[in-house]
Amino acid sequence: MQTPQARYNFEFGMPARKRSWAEPFKIKVVEPVRLTTPEQRRAAIAEAGYNTFLLRSEDVYIDLLTDSGTSAMSDWQWAGMMLGDEAYAGSRNFYHLEAAIQKHYGYRYVIPTHQGRGAEHILSRALIHPGDVIPGNMYFTTTRLHQELAGGRFVDVIIPEAHDPESPHPFKGNVDLERLEEVIREHGASRIPYLSIATSVNMAGGQPISLGNLRAVRDLADRHGIRIMHDATRVAENAYFIQQREPGQEGRPIAEIVREICSLTDGCTMSAKKDALVNIGGFLAVNDREIYEEARNLVVVYEGLHTYGGMSGRDMEAVARGIEESLHDDHIRARVGQVLYLGYKIRAAGVPIVEPIGGHGVFLDAKRFLPHVPREQYPAQALAAAIYLDSGVRSMERGTVSAGRNPQTGEENRPKLELVRLTIPRRVYTQAHMDVVAESVEAVFGERDNIRGLKMVYEPRYLRFFQARFEPA
Ligand code: F0G
Repeated sequence: MQTPQARYNFEFGMPARKRSWAEPFKIKVVEPVRLTTPEQRRAAIAEAGYNTFLLRSEDVYIDLLTDSGTSAMSDWQWAGMMLGDEAYAGSRNFYHLEAAIQKHYGYRYVIPTHQGRGAEHILSRALIHPGDVIPGNMYFTTTRLHQELAGGRFVDVIIPEAHDPESPHPFKGNVDLERLEEVIREHGASRIPYLSIATSVNMAGGQPISLGNLRAVRDLADRHGIRIMHDATRVAENAYFIQQREPGQEGRPIAEIVREICSLTDGCTMSAKKDALVNIGGFLAVNDREIYEEARNLVVVYEGLHTYGGMSGRDMEAVARGIEESLHDDHIRARVGQVLYLGYKIRAAGVPIVEPIGGHGVFLDAKRFLPHVPREQYPAQALAAAIYLDSGVRSMERGTVSAGRNPQTGEENRPKLELVRLTIPRRVYTQAHMDVVAESVEAVFGERDNIRGLKMVYEPRYLRFFQARFEPA
Protein backbone atom coordinates (compact mmCIF):
# COMPACT_ATOMS: atom_id res chain seq x y z
CA MET A 1 0.00 0.00 0.00
CA GLN A 2 1.23 3.47 -0.84
CA THR A 3 1.86 5.88 2.02
CA PRO A 4 0.35 9.36 1.65
CA GLN A 5 3.91 10.70 1.39
CA ALA A 6 4.76 8.45 -1.56
CA ARG A 7 1.51 9.40 -3.28
CA TYR A 8 2.28 13.05 -2.81
CA ASN A 9 5.65 12.63 -4.43
CA PHE A 10 4.14 10.61 -7.25
CA GLU A 11 1.73 13.43 -8.05
CA PHE A 12 4.68 15.71 -8.53
CA GLY A 13 6.41 13.28 -10.82
CA MET A 14 9.18 12.46 -8.39
CA PRO A 15 10.23 9.06 -7.13
CA ALA A 16 9.26 8.51 -3.50
CA ARG A 17 11.65 9.98 -0.94
CA LYS A 18 13.94 11.66 -3.44
CA ARG A 19 14.90 15.02 -1.99
CA SER A 20 16.60 17.58 -4.21
CA TRP A 21 18.84 20.15 -2.66
CA ALA A 22 16.93 23.31 -1.95
CA GLU A 23 17.93 26.56 -0.38
CA PRO A 24 17.70 26.37 3.44
CA PHE A 25 16.20 29.88 3.53
CA LYS A 26 13.39 31.94 2.11
CA ILE A 27 13.77 35.35 0.52
CA LYS A 28 12.93 38.46 2.57
CA VAL A 29 14.36 41.34 0.52
CA VAL A 30 14.69 41.56 -3.25
CA GLU A 31 16.71 43.78 -5.56
CA PRO A 32 15.47 44.35 -9.12
CA VAL A 33 17.72 43.38 -12.01
CA ARG A 34 17.48 44.93 -15.44
CA LEU A 35 17.09 43.31 -18.82
CA THR A 36 18.87 45.20 -21.60
CA THR A 37 18.47 45.23 -25.38
CA PRO A 38 21.13 43.83 -27.74
CA GLU A 39 21.90 47.42 -28.86
CA GLN A 40 22.46 48.54 -25.28
CA ARG A 41 24.76 45.59 -24.65
CA ARG A 42 26.76 46.19 -27.83
CA ALA A 43 27.36 49.79 -26.75
CA ALA A 44 28.15 48.79 -23.15
CA ILE A 45 30.74 46.11 -23.96
CA ALA A 46 32.48 48.33 -26.55
CA GLU A 47 32.61 51.14 -23.98
CA ALA A 48 34.07 48.63 -21.50
CA GLY A 49 36.87 47.69 -23.91
CA TYR A 50 35.49 44.12 -24.13
CA ASN A 51 36.48 43.61 -20.51
CA THR A 52 33.61 42.47 -18.27
CA PHE A 53 35.36 44.07 -15.27
CA LEU A 54 34.77 47.46 -16.86
CA LEU A 55 31.03 47.07 -17.37
CA ARG A 56 28.66 49.01 -15.16
CA SER A 57 26.72 46.64 -12.97
CA GLU A 58 23.51 48.41 -14.08
CA ASP A 59 24.09 47.04 -17.57
CA VAL A 60 24.31 43.46 -16.27
CA TYR A 61 21.32 41.13 -16.03
CA ILE A 62 22.73 38.13 -14.13
CA ASP A 63 26.09 38.89 -12.57
CA LEU A 64 28.38 35.86 -12.44
CA LEU A 65 31.58 37.89 -12.53
CA THR A 66 32.60 36.69 -9.10
CA ASP A 67 31.46 35.09 -5.88
CA SER A 68 33.54 37.68 -4.02
CA GLY A 69 31.65 40.13 -1.84
CA THR A 70 28.46 39.35 -3.74
CA SER A 71 26.75 37.10 -1.19
CA ALA A 72 23.35 37.84 0.32
CA MET A 73 23.67 38.18 4.08
CA SER A 74 21.21 36.53 6.44
CA ASP A 75 18.82 38.32 8.79
CA TRP A 76 21.10 37.18 11.63
CA GLN A 77 24.07 38.87 9.98
CA TRP A 78 22.08 42.07 9.33
CA ALA A 79 20.92 42.06 12.94
CA GLY A 80 24.58 41.82 13.96
CA MET A 81 25.40 44.83 11.77
CA MET A 82 23.20 46.93 14.08
CA LEU A 83 25.35 45.86 16.98
CA GLY A 84 28.51 47.31 15.48
CA ASP A 85 30.79 48.82 18.09
CA GLU A 86 32.54 51.53 16.11
CA ALA A 87 35.22 52.29 18.66
CA TYR A 88 38.62 52.94 17.11
CA ALA A 89 40.31 50.42 19.39
CA GLY A 90 39.16 47.22 21.04
CA SER A 91 35.72 46.99 19.39
CA ARG A 92 33.63 44.21 20.87
CA ASN A 93 33.01 42.91 17.36
CA PHE A 94 36.73 42.27 16.94
CA TYR A 95 36.58 39.92 19.92
CA HIS A 96 33.56 38.16 18.41
CA LEU A 97 35.49 37.74 15.17
CA GLU A 98 38.58 36.49 16.97
CA ALA A 99 36.49 33.99 18.93
CA ALA A 100 34.74 32.71 15.77
CA ILE A 101 38.09 32.17 14.03
CA GLN A 102 39.60 30.44 17.05
CA LYS A 103 36.55 28.23 17.46
CA HIS A 104 35.94 27.25 13.83
CA TYR A 105 39.38 27.39 12.23
CA GLY A 106 41.45 26.88 15.35
CA TYR A 107 44.20 29.42 14.67
CA ARG A 108 45.52 31.26 17.72
CA TYR A 109 46.20 34.85 16.64
CA VAL A 110 44.00 37.00 14.41
CA ILE A 111 44.85 40.11 12.38
CA PRO A 112 41.83 41.62 10.60
CA THR A 113 42.38 43.13 7.14
CA HIS A 114 40.14 44.93 4.67
CA GLN A 115 40.02 41.83 2.43
CA GLY A 116 42.09 38.82 1.38
CA ARG A 117 44.85 40.64 -0.48
CA GLY A 118 45.48 42.82 2.58
CA ALA A 119 46.29 39.65 4.52
CA GLU A 120 48.43 38.34 1.62
CA HIS A 121 50.38 41.59 1.57
CA ILE A 122 51.14 41.45 5.28
CA LEU A 123 52.01 37.75 5.27
CA SER A 124 54.30 38.17 2.25
CA ARG A 125 56.09 41.16 3.79
CA ALA A 126 56.47 39.42 7.11
CA LEU A 127 57.90 36.14 5.81
CA ILE A 128 59.37 36.45 2.30
CA HIS A 129 62.95 37.59 1.62
CA PRO A 130 64.27 38.45 -1.85
CA GLY A 131 65.25 35.27 -3.68
CA ASP A 132 62.86 33.05 -1.73
CA VAL A 133 60.72 30.43 -3.41
CA ILE A 134 57.10 29.77 -2.46
CA PRO A 135 55.71 26.45 -3.69
CA GLY A 136 51.93 26.21 -3.92
CA ASN A 137 48.99 24.33 -5.41
CA MET A 138 48.51 26.66 -8.39
CA TYR A 139 48.84 30.43 -8.34
CA PHE A 140 46.17 32.91 -7.50
CA THR A 141 46.55 36.35 -9.09
CA THR A 142 46.79 38.57 -5.98
CA THR A 143 48.54 35.94 -3.85
CA ARG A 144 51.35 35.47 -6.38
CA LEU A 145 51.72 39.19 -7.01
CA HIS A 146 52.26 39.91 -3.30
CA GLN A 147 54.81 37.09 -3.15
CA GLU A 148 56.62 38.62 -6.13
CA LEU A 149 56.46 42.17 -4.79
CA ALA A 150 58.14 40.89 -1.61
CA GLY A 151 60.97 39.48 -3.77
CA GLY A 152 59.79 35.87 -3.87
CA ARG A 153 58.98 33.53 -6.72
CA PHE A 154 55.95 31.26 -6.83
CA VAL A 155 56.53 27.67 -8.00
CA ASP A 156 53.53 25.57 -8.99
CA VAL A 157 53.49 22.11 -7.38
CA ILE A 158 49.90 21.12 -8.08
CA ILE A 159 49.31 17.69 -9.66
CA PRO A 160 49.43 17.74 -13.49
CA GLU A 161 45.77 16.71 -13.72
CA ALA A 162 44.85 20.19 -12.46
CA HIS A 163 46.05 21.67 -15.76
CA ASP A 164 43.91 19.29 -17.79
CA PRO A 165 40.28 20.47 -17.98
CA GLU A 166 39.14 17.02 -19.10
CA SER A 167 40.69 15.01 -16.28
CA PRO A 168 37.97 13.76 -13.91
CA HIS A 169 40.37 13.50 -10.93
CA PRO A 170 38.26 14.06 -7.78
CA PHE A 171 40.97 16.11 -6.02
CA LYS A 172 42.63 18.26 -8.64
CA GLY A 173 43.77 20.65 -5.91
CA ASN A 174 46.23 18.03 -4.61
CA VAL A 175 49.94 18.72 -4.32
CA ASP A 176 52.34 16.66 -6.44
CA LEU A 177 54.46 15.41 -3.53
CA GLU A 178 57.37 14.30 -5.70
CA ARG A 179 57.51 17.64 -7.44
CA LEU A 180 57.42 19.39 -4.05
CA GLU A 181 60.33 17.23 -2.79
CA GLU A 182 62.24 18.17 -5.92
CA VAL A 183 61.63 21.88 -5.40
CA ILE A 184 62.76 21.60 -1.77
CA ARG A 185 65.89 19.69 -2.84
CA GLU A 186 66.67 22.19 -5.57
CA HIS A 187 66.30 25.38 -3.51
CA GLY A 188 66.83 24.16 0.06
CA ALA A 189 64.28 24.48 2.87
CA SER A 190 65.93 27.68 4.11
CA ARG A 191 64.83 29.47 0.90
CA ILE A 192 61.23 28.38 1.35
CA PRO A 193 59.47 30.59 3.91
CA TYR A 194 56.25 28.58 3.62
CA LEU A 195 54.15 26.41 1.36
CA SER A 196 51.15 28.28 -0.03
CA ILE A 197 48.26 25.82 0.07
CA ALA A 198 44.80 26.82 -1.11
CA THR A 199 41.65 24.89 -0.35
CA SER A 200 39.26 24.79 -3.33
CA VAL A 201 41.78 25.94 -5.92
CA ASN A 202 40.22 28.87 -7.73
CA MET A 203 42.33 28.97 -10.89
CA ALA A 204 42.01 25.20 -11.41
CA GLY A 205 38.23 25.55 -11.51
CA GLY A 206 37.30 25.44 -7.82
CA GLN A 207 38.94 22.04 -7.30
CA PRO A 208 39.50 20.54 -3.84
CA ILE A 209 42.58 19.16 -2.12
CA SER A 210 41.99 15.90 -0.23
CA LEU A 211 42.59 15.49 3.48
CA GLY A 212 44.89 12.57 2.68
CA ASN A 213 47.04 14.71 0.43
CA LEU A 214 47.12 17.59 2.91
CA ARG A 215 48.23 15.21 5.67
CA ALA A 216 51.05 13.99 3.42
CA VAL A 217 52.05 17.59 2.65
CA ARG A 218 52.14 18.24 6.40
CA ASP A 219 54.45 15.25 6.95
CA LEU A 220 56.76 16.39 4.20
CA ALA A 221 56.79 19.97 5.48
CA ASP A 222 57.55 18.77 9.01
CA ARG A 223 60.46 16.67 7.79
CA HIS A 224 61.99 19.81 6.27
CA GLY A 225 60.88 22.27 8.93
CA ILE A 226 58.76 24.31 6.51
CA ARG A 227 55.54 26.13 7.45
CA ILE A 228 52.24 25.76 5.62
CA MET A 229 50.14 28.87 5.03
CA HIS A 230 46.58 28.16 4.01
CA ASP A 231 44.48 30.25 1.67
CA ALA A 232 41.19 29.47 3.42
CA THR A 233 39.03 31.62 1.15
CA ARG A 234 36.85 28.66 0.09
CA VAL A 235 37.65 26.10 2.77
CA ALA A 236 34.03 25.13 3.45
CA GLU A 237 33.44 24.30 -0.21
CA ASN A 238 36.59 22.19 -0.20
CA ALA A 239 35.36 20.41 2.94
CA TYR A 240 32.08 19.63 1.18
CA PHE A 241 33.91 17.80 -1.62
CA ILE A 242 35.95 15.90 0.98
CA GLN A 243 32.72 14.86 2.67
CA GLN A 244 31.22 13.77 -0.66
CA ARG A 245 34.24 12.13 -2.28
CA GLU A 246 36.95 11.06 0.15
CA PRO A 247 36.73 7.52 1.50
CA GLY A 248 36.00 7.55 5.23
CA GLN A 249 34.79 11.16 5.28
CA GLU A 250 31.16 10.70 4.23
CA GLY A 251 28.67 11.97 6.76
CA ARG A 252 31.28 13.85 8.75
CA PRO A 253 30.11 17.39 9.62
CA ILE A 254 31.59 20.15 7.45
CA ALA A 255 32.64 22.12 10.53
CA GLU A 256 34.72 19.18 11.73
CA ILE A 257 36.43 18.69 8.37
CA VAL A 258 37.23 22.41 8.19
CA ARG A 259 38.73 22.25 11.68
CA GLU A 260 40.95 19.34 10.67
CA ILE A 261 42.11 21.06 7.45
CA CYS A 262 43.11 24.13 9.45
CA SER A 263 44.85 22.03 12.10
CA LEU A 264 47.18 20.70 9.38
CA THR A 265 48.40 24.21 8.57
CA ASP A 266 50.19 26.95 10.51
CA GLY A 267 48.06 29.90 9.59
CA CYS A 268 45.78 31.30 6.95
CA THR A 269 44.96 34.26 4.80
CA MET A 270 41.26 34.70 4.25
CA SER A 271 39.08 36.65 1.90
CA ALA A 272 35.90 36.61 3.99
CA LYS A 273 34.08 37.88 0.89
CA LYS A 274 33.63 34.32 -0.33
CA ASP A 275 32.90 31.43 2.06
CA ALA A 276 32.23 33.70 5.00
CA LEU A 277 29.22 35.32 3.32
CA VAL A 278 30.03 39.01 3.65
CA ASN A 279 30.43 41.91 1.25
CA ILE A 280 33.81 43.03 2.56
CA GLY A 281 36.45 41.77 4.97
CA GLY A 282 39.32 39.39 5.55
CA PHE A 283 42.01 38.39 7.98
CA LEU A 284 45.35 36.78 8.60
CA ALA A 285 45.46 34.15 11.33
CA VAL A 286 48.59 32.38 12.62
CA ASN A 287 49.68 30.11 15.42
CA ASP A 288 53.21 31.47 15.74
CA ARG A 289 53.63 34.30 18.25
CA GLU A 290 56.59 35.89 16.44
CA ILE A 291 54.84 36.03 13.07
CA TYR A 292 51.83 37.49 14.83
CA GLU A 293 53.95 40.24 16.42
CA GLU A 294 55.46 41.13 13.05
CA ALA A 295 52.08 41.10 11.30
CA ARG A 296 50.48 43.16 14.06
CA ASN A 297 53.20 45.73 13.47
CA LEU A 298 52.69 45.80 9.71
CA VAL A 299 48.89 45.93 9.84
CA VAL A 300 48.87 49.36 11.48
CA VAL A 301 50.96 50.70 8.58
CA TYR A 302 48.89 49.32 5.72
CA GLU A 303 45.39 48.43 6.93
CA GLY A 304 44.47 49.95 10.29
CA LEU A 305 44.79 49.23 13.99
CA HIS A 306 45.15 45.53 14.81
CA THR A 307 41.61 45.39 16.24
CA TYR A 308 39.94 46.53 13.00
CA GLY A 309 42.43 46.26 10.12
CA GLY A 310 40.30 48.18 7.64
CA MET A 311 36.91 46.85 8.69
CA SER A 312 34.24 48.67 10.63
CA GLY A 313 32.87 47.07 13.78
CA ARG A 314 29.68 46.04 11.98
CA ASP A 315 31.70 44.44 9.18
CA MET A 316 33.59 42.33 11.71
CA GLU A 317 30.34 41.21 13.31
CA ALA A 318 29.00 40.15 9.91
CA VAL A 319 32.16 38.11 9.27
CA ALA A 320 31.98 36.46 12.71
CA ARG A 321 28.39 35.40 12.03
CA GLY A 322 29.07 34.52 8.40
CA ILE A 323 31.85 32.10 9.37
CA GLU A 324 29.39 30.29 11.61
CA GLU A 325 26.73 30.08 8.88
CA SER A 326 29.19 28.98 6.21
CA LEU A 327 29.85 25.74 8.09
CA HIS A 328 26.25 24.54 8.30
CA ASP A 329 25.87 21.37 6.28
CA ASP A 330 22.53 22.39 4.76
CA HIS A 331 23.97 25.71 3.59
CA ILE A 332 26.99 24.24 1.87
CA ARG A 333 25.01 21.44 0.27
CA ALA A 334 22.61 23.91 -1.33
CA ARG A 335 25.41 26.29 -2.29
CA VAL A 336 27.42 23.68 -4.15
CA GLY A 337 24.17 22.02 -5.30
CA GLN A 338 23.26 25.14 -7.23
CA VAL A 339 26.68 25.26 -8.90
CA LEU A 340 26.36 21.60 -9.90
CA TYR A 341 22.85 22.24 -11.21
CA LEU A 342 24.17 24.86 -13.61
CA GLY A 343 27.17 22.72 -14.53
CA TYR A 344 25.08 19.64 -15.38
CA LYS A 345 22.80 21.73 -17.58
CA ILE A 346 25.67 23.30 -19.50
CA ARG A 347 27.44 19.97 -19.85
CA ALA A 348 24.24 18.29 -21.09
CA ALA A 349 24.20 20.82 -23.96
CA GLY A 350 27.57 19.48 -25.09
CA VAL A 351 29.51 22.58 -24.04
CA PRO A 352 33.13 21.88 -22.99
CA ILE A 353 33.60 22.65 -19.29
CA VAL A 354 36.22 21.91 -16.66
CA GLU A 355 35.61 18.54 -15.07
CA PRO A 356 34.70 17.86 -12.33
CA ILE A 357 32.40 20.84 -11.78
CA GLY A 358 33.93 23.06 -9.09
CA GLY A 359 32.64 24.49 -5.84
CA HIS A 360 32.06 28.14 -6.71
CA GLY A 361 31.41 28.21 -10.41
CA VAL A 362 31.23 26.51 -13.76
CA PHE A 363 34.34 27.01 -15.88
CA LEU A 364 33.97 26.93 -19.66
CA ASP A 365 36.94 25.59 -21.59
CA ALA A 366 37.49 28.40 -24.11
CA LYS A 367 40.19 26.48 -25.99
CA ARG A 368 37.72 23.78 -26.99
CA PHE A 369 34.77 26.19 -27.21
CA LEU A 370 36.59 28.48 -29.69
CA PRO A 371 39.25 26.31 -31.34
CA HIS A 372 39.46 28.77 -34.25
CA VAL A 373 40.58 31.69 -32.04
CA PRO A 374 44.37 31.64 -31.48
CA ARG A 375 45.75 32.06 -27.94
CA GLU A 376 47.26 35.46 -28.85
CA GLN A 377 43.71 36.65 -29.41
CA TYR A 378 42.51 35.77 -25.92
CA PRO A 379 39.74 33.24 -26.60
CA ALA A 380 38.40 33.32 -23.03
CA GLN A 381 38.20 37.11 -23.01
CA ALA A 382 36.35 36.97 -26.35
CA LEU A 383 33.97 34.30 -25.06
CA ALA A 384 33.09 36.26 -21.91
CA ALA A 385 32.25 39.26 -24.11
CA ALA A 386 30.13 37.09 -26.42
CA ILE A 387 28.07 35.69 -23.55
CA TYR A 388 27.44 39.19 -22.25
CA LEU A 389 26.33 40.29 -25.72
CA ASP A 390 23.92 37.38 -25.96
CA SER A 391 22.12 37.74 -22.64
CA GLY A 392 23.62 40.33 -20.32
CA VAL A 393 25.13 37.53 -18.22
CA ARG A 394 28.51 38.68 -16.89
CA SER A 395 31.34 36.16 -16.51
CA MET A 396 35.12 36.48 -16.10
CA GLU A 397 38.20 35.52 -18.09
CA ARG A 398 40.57 33.12 -16.31
CA GLY A 399 43.24 32.46 -18.89
CA THR A 400 46.09 34.27 -20.61
CA VAL A 401 44.93 37.75 -19.63
CA SER A 402 44.65 36.77 -15.94
CA ALA A 403 48.01 34.99 -16.00
CA GLY A 404 49.86 38.21 -16.87
CA ARG A 405 53.55 38.33 -17.67
CA ASN A 406 56.68 36.73 -16.31
CA PRO A 407 58.28 39.50 -14.18
CA GLN A 408 61.81 38.37 -15.19
CA THR A 409 61.39 38.05 -18.96
CA GLY A 410 58.33 40.24 -19.62
CA GLU A 411 56.88 37.43 -21.77
CA GLU A 412 53.17 36.65 -21.50
CA ASN A 413 52.49 33.63 -19.31
CA ARG A 414 50.59 30.97 -21.27
CA PRO A 415 48.66 28.88 -18.74
CA LYS A 416 47.37 25.54 -19.97
CA LEU A 417 43.91 26.56 -18.83
CA GLU A 418 42.06 29.15 -20.91
CA LEU A 419 38.76 29.47 -19.08
CA VAL A 420 35.64 31.55 -18.67
CA ARG A 421 34.30 31.44 -15.14
CA LEU A 422 30.58 31.59 -14.43
CA THR A 423 30.83 32.29 -10.73
CA ILE A 424 27.79 31.84 -8.54
CA PRO A 425 27.26 34.34 -5.72
CA ARG A 426 26.04 32.68 -2.52
CA ARG A 427 22.31 32.82 -1.70
CA VAL A 428 21.61 35.38 -4.45
CA TYR A 429 20.18 33.80 -7.60
CA THR A 430 17.45 31.25 -8.17
CA GLN A 431 17.35 28.07 -10.20
CA ALA A 432 15.42 29.97 -12.90
CA HIS A 433 18.37 32.37 -13.22
CA MET A 434 20.63 29.36 -13.67
CA ASP A 435 18.33 28.13 -16.45
CA VAL A 436 18.70 31.44 -18.28
CA VAL A 437 22.48 31.27 -17.95
CA ALA A 438 22.57 27.74 -19.35
CA GLU A 439 20.30 28.74 -22.24
CA SER A 440 22.57 31.65 -23.11
CA VAL A 441 25.76 29.59 -22.99
CA GLU A 442 24.11 26.98 -25.20
CA ALA A 443 22.98 29.64 -27.70
CA VAL A 444 26.47 31.14 -27.87
CA PHE A 445 27.91 27.65 -28.33
CA GLY A 446 25.58 27.17 -31.31
CA GLU A 447 26.95 30.34 -32.90
CA ARG A 448 30.56 29.91 -31.83
CA ASP A 449 31.97 30.00 -35.38
CA ASN A 450 31.01 33.68 -35.61
CA ILE A 451 33.00 34.70 -32.51
CA ARG A 452 36.22 36.56 -33.29
CA GLY A 453 39.31 37.06 -31.14
CA LEU A 454 40.47 40.27 -29.48
CA LYS A 455 43.61 42.37 -29.42
CA MET A 456 44.77 44.13 -26.27
CA VAL A 457 44.99 47.88 -26.74
CA TYR A 458 45.69 48.93 -23.13
CA GLU A 459 47.62 46.90 -20.59
CA PRO A 460 48.07 47.92 -16.93
CA ARG A 461 51.31 46.93 -15.18
CA TYR A 462 49.79 44.90 -12.31
CA LEU A 463 46.85 42.48 -12.36
CA ARG A 464 46.12 43.53 -15.91
CA PHE A 465 42.90 41.53 -16.25
CA PHE A 466 41.06 44.03 -14.04
CA GLN A 467 41.55 47.06 -16.29
CA ALA A 468 42.93 45.93 -19.67
CA ARG A 469 41.08 47.11 -22.78
CA PHE A 470 40.54 45.24 -26.04
CA GLU A 471 39.23 45.66 -29.56
CA PRO A 472 38.00 43.04 -32.01
CA ALA A 473 41.06 41.53 -33.78
N1 F0G B 1 42.64 33.98 -2.63
C1 F0G B 1 41.72 33.45 -3.44
C2 F0G B 1 41.70 31.98 -3.66
C3 F0G B 1 40.80 34.28 -4.07
O1 F0G B 1 39.88 33.73 -4.87
C4 F0G B 1 40.84 35.68 -3.85
C5 F0G B 1 39.92 36.57 -4.53
C6 F0G B 1 41.83 36.18 -2.99
C7 F0G B 1 42.69 35.31 -2.40
C8 F0G B 1 41.96 37.66 -2.74
O2 F0G B 1 40.97 38.09 -1.91
O3 F0G B 1 39.65 39.68 -3.32
O4 F0G B 1 39.40 39.63 -0.83
O5 F0G B 1 41.46 40.53 -1.86
N2 F0G B 1 39.23 36.22 -5.52
C9 F0G B 1 38.21 37.00 -6.19
C10 F0G B 1 37.69 36.19 -7.34
C11 F0G B 1 38.63 38.36 -6.56
O6 F0G B 1 36.86 36.75 -8.08
O7 F0G B 1 38.04 35.03 -7.50
P1 F0G B 1 40.33 39.57 -2.00
